[in-house]
Amino acid sequence: MIAFDYTGKVVLVTGGTKGLGRGIARAFLSAGATVIVCARTPPDAPVTAPPYPRAPAPASDGRTGVARFVRADVRDPEDLERLFAGLDRLDVVVNNAGGAPYAMVAGTSPRLHARVIELNLIAPLLVAQRAHPLLAATQGTVIMIGSTSGTRPSPGTSAYGAAKAGLHHLAACLAAEWAPDVRVNTVVVGLAETENAAEHYGGRSELMSATIPAGRMAGPSDVGEVCLWLAGSGYVTGAQILVHGGGETPAWKWVASDGISR
Ligand SMILES: NC(=O)c1ccc[n+]([C@@H]2O[C@H](COP(=O)([O-])OP(=O)(O)OC[C@H]3O[C@@H](n4cnc5c(N)ncnc54)[C@H](OP(=O)(O)O)[C@@H]3O)[C@@H](O)[C@H]2O)c1
Repeated sequence: MIAFDYTGKVVLVTGGTKGLGRGIARAFLSAGATVIVCARTPPDAPVTAPPYPRAPAPASDGRTGVARFVRADVRDPEDLERLFAGLDRLDVVVNNAGGAPYAMVAGTSPRLHARVIELNLIAPLLVAQRAHPLLAATQGTVIMIGSTSGTRPSPGTSAYGAAKAGLHHLAACLAAEWAPDVRVNTVVVGLAETENAAEHYGGRSELMSATIPAGRMAGPSDVGEVCLWLAGSGYVTGAQILVHGGGETPAWKWVASDGISR
């Protein structure tokens, strides 16, 4: 891994207590940043810089190597007000909190669709908007955690896919509005291996990995490493960085090769 130095930088990772967000927070901690993570519930264990399990001793500049947790639902404007009231500097915002249950559109409620779009599109917009003055003061950057579900049909998570497609576009729009002071980019993640992977992929990670040219799903540290690079790059803005191991091999290819082998 390339060495990055984020000493003196302040990074906010929404949903940084679990899964990919935890990996992103750990990556920035390992690079010396002061990291704040927010979520609706506290992390099961402190979010620390690797190596686990012991948190490093406090550094002389007051950094602890442990992310500060702030309880906040990113869909709630009052929670966001409280979250940002506690920040006097911000260099990087990673809009990571997101996700959706698997449910076909037929039979699901309007409220579910609204909540999914709120979490995956509206909340990142509100967080970015609220962060903008602080980021403008530091020539900072916003990273949206997008999804390949927003780049191709996403049956079973249609509202989520549509929200992520919107998020990718939103990042490009904000990049244009806020240039040259604040850069805004999207990391478009493919299938990922987190502690919730069994829930997402029905416990069939090995089969899922077989559909990826790289031969495995992305891990939290893969996404964290890309965020470190992207947040430090001085010129890249309005871009989408694909972290999908080469993409998903289309289903027709399996059907065709099965037909050929018979
Ligand atoms: N896992 C994948 O395969 C995959 C693939 C592509 C893209 N992504 C994207 O990557 C991001 C992270 O996914 P993940 O799988 O790592 O998710 P995860 O394991 O379910 O973790 C989600 C994190 O977000 C927090 N969160 C959820 N709702 C929130 C809310 N309303 N306000 C504040 N925090 C909230 C959760 O904590 P609380 O529940 O305590 O609030 C948790 O910290 C999401 O944007 C997702 O769409 C994931």
